[in-house]
Amino acid sequence: MDMFVVRGGQPLAGHVRVSGSKNAALPIMAAMLAVDGPVRLHDVPHLVDVRTLLDLLTRLGLQHSRSEADQTLELEVVDTTLCLAEYDLVRKMRASICVLGPLLARRGRACVSLPGGCNIGDRPIDLHLKGLRALGAEIQIERGYIFAEARQLRGAHIFLGGPFGSTVTGTCNLMVAGALAEGTTTIESAACEPEVVDLGNFLNQLGARIEGLGTPFLRIEGVPSLNAAGDDYRIIPDRIEAATLMMAVAMTGGDIDLENVDLRPLTAVVEKLREVGVTIRAMGNRVHVSRQGALRPTDCCTLPYPGIPTDVQAQLMALLTMAEGMSVITDKVFPDRFMHAAELVRMGARIRREGPSAIISGVSRLSGANVMASDLRASAALVIAALAGEGESAIRRIYHLDRGYEQLERKLQHLGADIRRVQDCPENIPASLRPEWSEVEDAEHTEKLQQFVIPRPHLFDRSESRVQRP
Ligand code: EPU
Repeated sequence: MDMFVVRGGQPLAGHVRVSGSKNAALPIMAAMLAVDGPVRLHDVPHLVDVRTLLDLLTRLGLQHSRSEADQTLELEVVDTTLCLAEYDLVRKMRASICVLGPLLARRGRACVSLPGGCNIGDRPIDLHLKGLRALGAEIQIERGYIFAEARQLRGAHIFLGGPFGSTVTGTCNLMVAGALAEGTTTIESAACEPEVVDLGNFLNQLGARIEGLGTPFLRIEGVPSLNAAGDDYRIIPDRIEAATLMMAVAMTGGDIDLENVDLRPLTAVVEKLREVGVTIRAMGNRVHVSRQGALRPTDCCTLPYPGIPTDVQAQLMALLTMAEGMSVITDKVFPDRFMHAAELVRMGARIRREGPSAIISGVSRLSGANVMASDLRASAALVIAALAGEGESAIRRIYHLDRGYEQLERKLQHLGADIRRVQDCPENIPASLRPEWSEVEDAEHTEKLQQFVIPRPHLFDRSESRVQRP
């Protein structure tokens, strides 16, 4: 297992290119199960999640080849008899659920493992199943698997709103299913995220007839097949990676240029960053980001698109730990997505959880620490906090980060950050973070730690008369 060792305090400077979007690439790759003929996808990021999905798609009869030279991924179905998505792969990545709609629509049946629990909170798929049932699928859940069958899906009206808004991957599943259903499908309360729009544009390029993309009301006229003949399609830039890098420079100070960024779907994030004191200027698909003065506190709430995405909540929290005053963040999409808060506290942040909100009292400095990543975006939050913190940090379990950020440490190194990927073993933990007192260089810190570790009854006994000094 790898970890990052980060020495903080270095302002970022320079330019990097933002990769293609993970959350657009995954449903588009899965949709290829419903496509006849080959497609060449451009800008598919090199990620563990992409590799996991490719493994699953291979087991479902899809052939692929990757060209490193021009960053393309060619995909084509070669066997349409396979319909089983097994637990061993699905449990590694929830986006595997995106194969359900395409399998059912094109092959008439699907057996997909239920994805199971996740560190960011409850992630049911009831809305996916409700939508597919409305299109005529027979669905049963048995022994942890979804068994779905439909000789021919038929268009229907589907309301896709749930207690936390719509569903992104649910809308993706239903768009592919509706595209191949007989007749007209209307989806009310569809997800409007740019990644859903990207899938819709992809399907339309191959002959689907989907209208209303980017709005909560989709109208889909079913077609008999989706056909490709070596079509090319470019995945949109990753808005979450762009936002993460913006927050990194906002935390460390300095100024950077980001290439391959579309700021339009980031309006809510950009407004919030400007409010807290970050300068952001767009020049075509290049964005200049800098921060000179102090960070101001704010109050913000994550919402479905076009609101602030839940996928930047952790990074925003890291940023606000260093704002001058009190901030509040509420996550309305995943109200339990706060595991990173405790790790930020280990770095000196002051954060109190109140239900779906976190109250953050800004501190003037964070200090390096041993911290544990709990999910993809939490990992990114810890990395940017470590970049701004004083001293060294060891960020463990970064396999979460590798699922969704393409070469993040290389990009940060390119911007001047002191970050290294090393094997997670005791010898690689920076000396300043090891528990052996003799190796801790900072005498003041040693003194503080020892007061807590060596039993000293007088520290806990308020009555001076009962003090037993060693
Ligand atoms: N929900 C239901 N029922 C459902 C589906 C969802 O109640 O059937 C609830 C969820 O529990 C959640 C909310 O609706 O509270 C939104 O969930 P959604 O289904 O939209 O999430 P998702 O499709 O599973 C995608 C992204 C996530 C991102 C969310 C929200 C992909 C592959 N994943 O997940 O990305 O956080 O939308 O925008 O697109 C990430 O990249 O780190 C990540 C977690």
